[in-house]
Amino acid sequence: PTIYAITPTYSRPVQKAELTRLANTFRQVAQLHWILVEDAATRSELVSRFLARAGLPSTHLHVPTPRRYKRPGLPRATEQRNAGLAWLRQRHQHQHAQPGVLFFADDDNTYSLELFQEMRTTRKVSVWPVGLVGGRRYERPLVENGKVVGWYTGWRADRPFAIDMAGFAVSLQVILSNPKAVFKRRGSQPGMQESDFLKQITTVEELEPKANNCTKVLVWHTRTEKVNLANEPKHHLDTVRIEV
Ligand code: UGA
Ligand code: MN
Repeated sequence: PTIYAITPTYSRPVQKAELTRLANTFRQVAQLHWILVEDAATRSELVSRFLARAGLPSTHLHVPTPRRYKRPGLPRATEQRNAGLAWLRQRHQHQHAQPGVLFFADDDNTYSLELFQEMRTTRKVSVWPVGLVGGRRYERPLVENGKVVGWYTGWRADRPFAIDMAGFAVSLQVILSNPKAVFKRRGSQPGMQESDFLKQITTVEELEPKANNCTKVLVWHTRTEKVNLANEPKHHLDTVRIEV
């Protein structure tokens, strides 16, 4: 199956560095299609140029987050992930679904190559541990007899699926047979996006544990520190145009 990675991304000083690390990983994965969705009113020149040289099958989408949703404490990238889902459904509407697996790959996380081997065998919805998240070194689904029976987490243990966006993959077939499943703004608190989405397409009992019964961390919720640009000149001083 083809792995479809939906990556929301937005303009900031570290953007190209993040995308470079991601592309360097994805380039080593067979049959991966990168769906990069810019949080912007138009496709930026920076990302267009970057993708053209990335050496990866890719699709470049864009949709701006409405200004009222750009606030601390509100979920991020809802519209962008939905744009990726819409593109996938559109692309596969006329043909019998080719085997495919979808996952949501934020641009700042760290992904091991082994993760892709694990998720490629997803039948419906698969799950695995995520490192450096929820105020712990890792969060993970608790597995008994091959089934998910609970969650090891330090944060909002009341979540129906106490899992980060980086902790699951979904087969294309499930996405196509649940055409209305999307990320919702209304009523979705931060940290509940994953649960709100997953409960539209699966149940906890149905989840397929990966990474040796969820005992191996293969992806990390790393976050890049905000860069210090205190010494940037107010006006452009450099003598030539620099691609940053
Ligand atoms: C956590 C989760 O890991 C995310 O999957 C979830 O979307 C997010 O919380 C949330 O609060 O909604 P966190 O590291 O705090 O992640 O979020 P970011 O990495 O800053 O953003 C998640 C993704 O959305 C990234 O790919 C980022 O590039 C993108 N993003 C972020 C935008 O497209 N627009 C923004 O304004 C901010
Ligand atoms: Mn992040």
